[in-house]
Amino acid sequence: MNFTQKILAWYDANRRELPWRGSQNPYHIWLSEVILQQTQIVQGTAYYLKFVETYPTVFDLAAADERDVLLLWQGLGYYSRARNLHFSAKYIVQNLGGVFPKSYRELLKLKGVGDYTAAAIASLAYNEVQPAIDGNVQRVIARVFGISEPVNAPLGMKLIREKSENLISHTHAADYNQAMMDFGATHCTPKNPKCSECPFSADCVAFTTDTVAKLPVKIKAKPKTDLYISYLVILFKNSVILKKRTDGIWLNMFELPNITEETDLSSEDVVSALKSNFGMTENSEIIDLKIEVKHVLSHLNLHIRFFEYKAISEADFQKFSSISESISCTLENVNQYPKPVVLENFFAKNCLI
Ligand code: ADE
Repeated sequence: MNFTQKILAWYDANRRELPWRGSQNPYHIWLSEVILQQTQIVQGTAYYLKFVETYPTVFDLAAADERDVLLLWQGLGYYSRARNLHFSAKYIVQNLGGVFPKSYRELLKLKGVGDYTAAAIASLAYNEVQPAIDGNVQRVIARVFGISEPVNAPLGMKLIREKSENLISHTHAADYNQAMMDFGATHCTPKNPKCSECPFSADCVAFTTDTVAKLPVKIKAKPKTDLYISYLVILFKNSVILKKRTDGIWLNMFELPNITEETDLSSEDVVSALKSNFGMTENSEIIDLKIEVKHVLSHLNLHIRFFEYKAISEADFQKFSSISESISCTLENVNQYPKPVVLENFFAKNCLI
């Protein structure tokens, strides 16, 4: 058996039963692929089921409020993926009459759909012969064929693509792609791959040359930047001020008013900066809640602290809701606003007032 026959046979015996498997609905496949770029199968499956239940068709997603889509996505991170899903659903409904693009080339035109997602949808929904190359596939190919060029640099990517184009089954493109994904995720894993029971071990270059642990080679990402966010919890009775983000990764999500610096300020310096930033008087009483959370994103290490200010009157409180993009909201209702997970956890864990 050649590589393609072996991987298809492996898939026949070992495939995972997943809720979108067997579906050729491109909308469902699109949802599952975008969600799975963010998380592992177990959590991804839960989000997938929530999405298809809430938005069973592309028309339902297109008709949704972006805020509700972000709320459903909450916890997955990389919120631009959710905004792009919603944007592209509206595009499909408004510009394509609700008909999903039918080929890899056409799918690539959708916002947020790159090579991998277009190939996954085109192959799984339409059996188009397009290799879907993700990190799992890169690892399998780099090991079995001994590709030692970095898989995240142009030459390595080109070599993996050429190999994949030669290997993909022309009659079972969907199964081939899913076989590679499952094999990479469950068998040829980054650590402790199951080499002793592998159908490729006799020919696998990495196994036969004892380089499994060295492949694939990846160029290291550049070091992350540190950002220090100090949130101000402004309270009055059972209400709090929330502020909508107008930029960056958390665009259109709700946060607390804050100052964000590239240096780690002392508690006293944060308090003064918050006062001057939000036009508060010198003697306003801001307390450091001494809650510190580190949150790691793809390019950033966020160091988050929380401070509290109890407004002295309704009028004092309302001043803050007139800061641009700010609203006052009761503590019972904060869960109706999409928020970064750090803030969701903060509200869930801290009994304010
Ligand atoms: N990871 C990403 N997409 C997948 C799929 N369709 N099947 C299994 N694992 C995946």
